[in-house]
Amino acid sequence: MQSKIDLYTTEIQRFEPKTAEELESFRIKFLGTKGIIKDLFDEFKAVSPEEKRVLGKVLNQFKQLAEQKYTDLKESFETKQEKSSSEQDFTLPGSGMELGGRHPLSLVRKEILEIFKRLGFVVAEGPEIEDDWHNFSALNFPEEHPARDMQDTFFIKKNSGKDDIALRTHTSSVQVRLMEAGKPPFRALMPGRVYRNEAISARAHCFFHQIEGLYVDENVSFADLKQTLYYFVQELYGEGTKVRFRPSFFPFTEPSAEMDISCTICKGDGCQMCKHSGWVEILGCGMIDPNVLENVGIDSKKYSGFAFGMGIERITNLKYQIKDLRLFSENDVRFLKQFQSELI
Ligand code: PHE
Repeated sequence: MQSKIDLYTTEIQRFEPKTAEELESFRIKFLGTKGIIKDLFDEFKAVSPEEKRVLGKVLNQFKQLAEQKYTDLKESFETKQEKSSSEQDFTLPGSGMELGGRHPLSLVRKEILEIFKRLGFVVAEGPEIEDDWHNFSALNFPEEHPARDMQDTFFIKKNSGKDDIALRTHTSSVQVRLMEAGKPPFRALMPGRVYRNEAISARAHCFFHQIEGLYVDENVSFADLKQTLYYFVQELYGEGTKVRFRPSFFPFTEPSAEMDISCTICKGDGCQMCKHSGWVEILGCGMIDPNVLENVGIDSKKYSGFAFGMGIERITNLKYQIKDLRLFSENDVRFLKQFQSELI
């Protein structure tokens, strides 16, 4: 009898009814007129007087437990029921819907596109999986030229060079697609993701984002390039931001340059971001090489143009002082939430 009571005790302690019907079955099973407790008391009558002394106490405690459990559960079911009907206040305001925020890279991309839109640039896009022609050959990269290695390409198919398929290493491939598909003048901005086989660290990643700019028309000069980029920098980083151009090399532009801006963090005094030089590089640019124009069927005697390419991560780092590139692709909400107020 003792072991039976022990078993029933655990059953009662674990009992968690979901409906009022389940609770009622519980009552009938344990407390009903033909229930378990009644049976136990009947059994009790037959035990020896010595056992009675011990068992009597146990049995009474068990009965109390069952009754208590039943009254407690009944009460909680009743209050639940009241709430779900008459006591509901339907005039209370609903719980708010949380909106997500834009990714910082999207915010900056949008801002850049908007600045150039004011100068008449349209947006164009191209594929991330590219052939050799669009990523290299049409852009005047000679075969076996070390400049191809410069970009640490991820090849998908590698044969002779001409049939190679790769993940694009820069958005300059979109320039080629755009110029092949239409006729000058061209004035376009080409945002997109690019890939390079680099070890992932705070300063490098195997993919990042670029925005390419292209302007082709009659009589386009380096002065146009400088003025366009100068305007862009004033709009993005505020008036008074200085720019400087340093000679550089890209196979598809001649002459080529890299553009620096006065450090946005220390304003030129010297800090970690600008490595104490007061200047930070933000993009590569140049006049489109006549060979490239000819490769896409544009008369290089009649037309000229400029192009530039910038990394969105770099521009964003400068704007928000982010020091680790990996934060952009980790999707850590603690990082992303900080840009929520900038919802546009
Ligand atoms: N494609 C070059 C790069 O990825 C940038 C660039 C674009 C330079 C257009 C000149 C003109 O480094």
